[in-house]
Amino acid sequence: MTQLHDAASLPGSEWWRTAVIYQIYPRSFADANGDGIGDLPGITSRLGSLAELGVDAIWLSPFMVSPQKDAGYDVADYCDVDPLFGTLEDFDRMLAVAHELGIRVIVDLVPNHSSDQHVWFQEALKAGPGSPERARYIFRDGRGENGELPPNNWESVFGGGMWERITEADGTPGQWYLHIFDVSQPDFDWTNPEVREAFRGVLRFWLDRGVDGFRVDVAHGLIKKDGLPDYTPAEDADSMGGDEEDVPYWGQPGVHDVYRDWNQVLAEYPGNRALCAEAWLPTPEKTALWVRPDEMHQAFNFPYAMTDWNAPALRKVITDSLRAFPAVGAPATWVLSNHDVIRHASRLALTADSPQGEGIGPTSAAQPIPELGLRRARAATSVMLGLPGSAYLFQGEELGLPEVVNLPDDARQDPTWFRTHHEKYGRDGCRVPIPWEASAPAYGFNDSGAAWLPQPAEWAQFARDVEEGDPDSTLSLYRSLLRLRREHALGAGDLTWLEGFGDNAIAFRNGDVTVIANVGATPLQLPAGRILVASGPVTEGMLPTDTTVWLAAD
Ligand code: GLC
Ligand code: CA
Repeated sequence: MTQLHDAASLPGSEWWRTAVIYQIYPRSFADANGDGIGDLPGITSRLGSLAELGVDAIWLSPFMVSPQKDAGYDVADYCDVDPLFGTLEDFDRMLAVAHELGIRVIVDLVPNHSSDQHVWFQEALKAGPGSPERARYIFRDGRGENGELPPNNWESVFGGGMWERITEADGTPGQWYLHIFDVSQPDFDWTNPEVREAFRGVLRFWLDRGVDGFRVDVAHGLIKKDGLPDYTPAEDADSMGGDEEDVPYWGQPGVHDVYRDWNQVLAEYPGNRALCAEAWLPTPEKTALWVRPDEMHQAFNFPYAMTDWNAPALRKVITDSLRAFPAVGAPATWVLSNHDVIRHASRLALTADSPQGEGIGPTSAAQPIPELGLRRARAATSVMLGLPGSAYLFQGEELGLPEVVNLPDDARQDPTWFRTHHEKYGRDGCRVPIPWEASAPAYGFNDSGAAWLPQPAEWAQFARDVEEGDPDSTLSLYRSLLRLRREHALGAGDLTWLEGFGDNAIAFRNGDVTVIANVGATPLQLPAGRILVASGPVTEGMLPTDTTVWLAAD
């Protein structure tokens, strides 16, 4: 086992309380064999650059065996690596190199549903209604005279209905199964003890290999309300339920038992292994239910991620978060981008609203305003990394990458695009392979030039090697923020709001650092103090609009 796991830690000082965790989307990070899809050897070869960036941990989106109907979030074998990404040996090597560099590794666990190619689902199709094989998933008879109508009216997150009718082994039209997401992603029945036991085994499989924790996919979805009552969401509701109050397939109370059980499994292992919930809930208070002392360790703060560039709204969500998470003994977490949302360098300056999951494309009403978006993104990240707690970064944001809006229609792969008959663009625009070298094939993503989603022609400016040499680049900004965050122990700090900067500022003290962001339209007078870092140019003591500074207290 590595040094990381041997390090003693006092209760309350566990690494995940303050960590900056960098999300790797394996398909789009680095491609060692040149087939156009990123892979584990590619990740290993580029870990040095993440150590230089100064992150504490990486989270890898799924690389397990999968037909890739939802980019790996459709798992056919939870305990093996998909050949597309490499082998288990490649994984072990990647993990060892990361640990040598002092970087912890979190893997993605997808418990809500499997792929329809999972052996259990294939067995369920062959076995008849009422069989133990069917009881691992949510099969029901249809409504209507001949069972020709779905069991209820639920709509899939990706569009269309949430039920699919199967053909029974004898060729007759049969039962229906539930899929919150794509038809290729049948939901498990988490009231079935066999499902629970199987996932304990999956956790142990990866823990035994030395992973430092799990990001738990759709952690608010596993338990459905008894009787599966009809439900119609609000018209413009977020697809993952992040702005809705009482949804029969999100946030049902029974789900917490599952995580109390997992907490016990992780506690058997040394080294403070961690569980992080992907749970879309409307408020920090609700999200905090996932991180009570005997449950998960972290939960993504989606209410924060979904807050517009608006000072009162940001102050409120920060205050609410710093109250709600510590109240249950958990760290606050912060996140602005991931593989499911519009990159924040675009999202923070859109010409119209775009609910989570819908994405943007050439015909969308919402279009980004690139320069403004990047300026706000740099300011927003400079606020986020000044906050106490743990923060998540998404690959490419340290380069200031924007959402790719102009992907050709025939390149798009998100199931949302297909299931809504091209009405919603979906999430491909944030998933384009990232640029490493301005003048290499595929910008250094590989050496063949292939890329599973085409990279825009104007991306040379964002390539890591270009930004490395530029003190004003977004990469240089992220490096400074991460270094200062560590030096001043901001992750373990406390926030005190500062008065006197007006309604359109975000101003707080964290330890010996003062963070001030100007979210308003006119420049702000800065107090005296040495500037440690600024998200944009600052002249003559004035803080321009959409700019953040960190000041030293001395
Ligand atoms: C989570 C993932 C998303 C995926 C969905 C279904 O929200 O982050 O990418 O499509 O779950 O697994
Ligand atoms: Ca590859």
